[in-house]
Amino acid sequence: MKAKQIIRSLHSEMQKIIIAIDGFSSTGKSTLAKQLAAKLNYTYVDSGAMYRAITYYFLQQHINLSDTQAIHEALQQIKLHFEDNKICLNGVNIDAEIRDLNVANHVSQVATLEEVRHFAVQQQQQLGIDKGIVMDGRDIGTTVFPNAELKIFLTANQQIRTQRRYDEMKVKNEAVRIEEVEANLAQRDHLDSTREISPLRKAADAVDLDNSHVSMEQQLEIAYEWAKQKIHHT
Ligand code: DC
Repeated sequence: MKAKQIIRSLHSEMQKIIIAIDGFSSTGKSTLAKQLAAKLNYTYVDSGAMYRAITYYFLQQHINLSDTQAIHEALQQIKLHFEDNKICLNGVNIDAEIRDLNVANHVSQVATLEEVRHFAVQQQQQLGIDKGIVMDGRDIGTTVFPNAELKIFLTANQQIRTQRRYDEMKVKNEAVRIEEVEANLAQRDHLDSTREISPLRKAADAVDLDNSHVSMEQQLEIAYEWAKQKIHHT
């Protein structure tokens, strides 16, 4: 058996925990969550992708966000699932579509809606029922899994976050100006942390990880050590 397989099978025999990773937009939550889940042989769930998929559907269907009945009916038409960490809406992989600026510009508003949050949180909690999960988002440590064994609050300074997001979009050949990216991030940060229901907050028992000047490999090692300690003490 190869070393990686041995580590994987050791992990699968150990007590499984829930790991919540929260933080502002473009702090690299998904990257860390995905890598940590792979290293622990855990399931990875990108909760933001769920809000983005709902937003994508609402935009496609021209749902008026102040029409609660229309929202209620639209949510009944939505089936979400993940396949190889990619989100599928009613059976169709829409992972690329949900990353565009139009969805990004509307998602924070959609995520303020009570019925939308209820719909998403219920499914997120269901996904974590057997533990062994790393989920990233804004309210995972506070609302979705308040009893998560490990809660990480990821931060990075705004200039660095803007540059990272801009570089990411450039790689995908998206025609976007850095000022637009900066404005979108600032607007989302504001909406996400000031909304009434489940605003972005650091849970009292979360540990801070500022990755402004930390490499991806280093942040993974830090988080992995924290996870191992929690797993051994659970
Ligand atoms: O992580 P992300 O940028 O893909 O998230 C998209 C939006 O979804 C974000 O602006 C706020 C919202 N969101 C949320 O309200 N709660 C979560 N748990 C995850 C995301």
